[in-house]
Amino acid sequence: MCGIVGYVGHRPALDVVLGGLRRMEYRGYDSAGVAVLDGAGALTVERKAGRLANLEGRLDEVGREHFGGTAGMGHTRWATHGAPIDRNSHPHRDASERVAVVHNGIIENFAALRAELEADGVEMASDTDTETAAHLVARAYTEGDTKGDFTASVAAVCRRLEGAFTLVVTHADHPDTIVAARRSSPLVVGVGEGEHFVASDVAAFIEHTREAVELGQDQLVVITREGYDVLDFHGDAAQAKPFTVDWDLSAAEKGGHEYFMLKEIEEQPEALANTLRGHFESGRIILDEQRISDQDLRDVDKVFVVACGSAYHSGLVAKYAIEHWTRLPVEVELASEFRYRDPVLDRDTLVVAVSQSGETADTLEAVRHAREQKARVLAVCNTNGAQIPRESDAVLYTHAGPEIGVASTKAFLAQIAANYLVGLALAQARGTKYPDEVAREYAELEAMPAAVQKVLSTVEQVRDLGRRIADSKAILFLGRHVGFPVALEGALKLKELAYMHAEGFAAGELKHGPIALIEDGLPVVVVMPSPKGRAVLHSKLVSNISEIQARGARTIVIAEEGDETVRPFADELIEVPAVPTLLQPLVSTVPLQVLAAEIARARGYDVDKPRNLAKSVTVE
Ligand code: AGP
Repeated sequence: MCGIVGYVGHRPALDVVLGGLRRMEYRGYDSAGVAVLDGAGALTVERKAGRLANLEGRLDEVGREHFGGTAGMGHTRWATHGAPIDRNSHPHRDASERVAVVHNGIIENFAALRAELEADGVEMASDTDTETAAHLVARAYTEGDTKGDFTASVAAVCRRLEGAFTLVVTHADHPDTIVAARRSSPLVVGVGEGEHFVASDVAAFIEHTREAVELGQDQLVVITREGYDVLDFHGDAAQAKPFTVDWDLSAAEKGGHEYFMLKEIEEQPEALANTLRGHFESGRIILDEQRISDQDLRDVDKVFVVACGSAYHSGLVAKYAIEHWTRLPVEVELASEFRYRDPVLDRDTLVVAVSQSGETADTLEAVRHAREQKARVLAVCNTNGAQIPRESDAVLYTHAGPEIGVASTKAFLAQIAANYLVGLALAQARGTKYPDEVAREYAELEAMPAAVQKVLSTVEQVRDLGRRIADSKAILFLGRHVGFPVALEGALKLKELAYMHAEGFAAGELKHGPIALIEDGLPVVVVMPSPKGRAVLHSKLVSNISEIQARGARTIVIAEEGDETVRPFADELIEVPAVPTLLQPLVSTVPLQVLAAEIARARGYDVDKPRNLAKSVTVE
């Protein structure tokens, strides 16, 4: 997710905007830029790939006196469409350079809009979806019903955009006005004395004002030095929600949470929705970059998933779906083991490399080994332009936004969703699923953000449980089928965050040894399948729970809401919404993330920066 700040007031806009961008650096980004309106009708833009310091250095080279106005905007980009290079950095302008736009989100229909503009003779200067908005606003302002009306021009363009967006627009003809709009992406107004702000995040302006207004869905706002007006996309007055920011700057960066990880747990519905968005068009699954033909996908006779840590667990989850949907054998391998075991690979092998950072050395070396063996590689990655996607034949980006917490949460759920899209793309190419079946599976995935949101609304019970069992010596996690990788992920979260011994098991393995670990009061988390899914799995897991309860375990059961069969065996029952069998990891993982974070907090540990760990392990 990108950082955006706009300002109209009495101070030098460049200082205010750069200050706002600095306070949003925590969000993670790969390029930055500014646009400033001076009073004489000039719109000056500078942008640079890399850190803010690169942009500031560039401004010094050019001469900051060229950026002297009291209205302007800035942007820190987390690349979605187009590599993180100068020409893809925001702000983007139209050909006349009279209109500048910064954007956060994904314009789903940008390809059609781009084709329309190019057919009109517009030459695109970047690979981004954002640039189309700049050209469209310029065209709406110079012709037709909205000619000469800045606000109406922006509104008309917003009505044509599909997807999620926060847009902030400036026009050289209106040096004392900024127009901003939002759909399914954050936008707040800062209300000052003789100055007003728009931003993706209150952190950008709370040093200047704590009076804010949160815009609603499909609303736009016009800010000037004197005030602001909120309208809908048809130009009619609309109501927005004023509020006073009572967070300090540090809390504001974390959306009011104590830790980034807690904020990122809450962002999971949005991360899922953004990852799925735009990958099903005209009845077909589409990947971001597919340099593998459908014929090559049809020729695939074996799939490997290679990854580390949570990404590896997302591969274990995906194995069940990909094998079920495509009837292809899927091996899920720890990247650090993959190349040393001399796996059997050839040009009909598809290797799926899953990585949030796209820089993990073990996974990168596995990708290189696979390519040396002529296998085709598809990357599932959360970081646009990272090394692993750059060295792959095809890419599917997760759009979880920057994940600051070292322990993976929203990226993990997004990886599961993306891996499922890969499975559906394979099934579609191979014909093992009819188009209507692919559409149905995609529709079930699209319902998951709401299901995860429902889980998030009930996690106070889990936080309370975490505080009560924070002094445990160890906690075991059990699951069957797709619940088994969830058990592994729950154990990993607890190890990473609370430095507590934790282990995930396939529940069927209990009697082959681990049941010897069960002792009086030992907490055991059990991830239950739906009673309406694979009934045999459900009944076997109930038997497993009764076996461990008989030996003194404290059973903590994650089960589908209304599952009365399991209630008598649960010392603690955590209910999650009923979802299709293969999608259960998306709801059952969330309580385990919250449990681990709460135990870590109770133990007084830094949830965002666990000891000994780095966010991206770039050494083998
Ligand atoms: C998960 O919580 C950990 N942060 C770690 O296991 C992580 O998933 C692993 O290092 C892989 O990182 P990547 O997704 O960036 O490749």
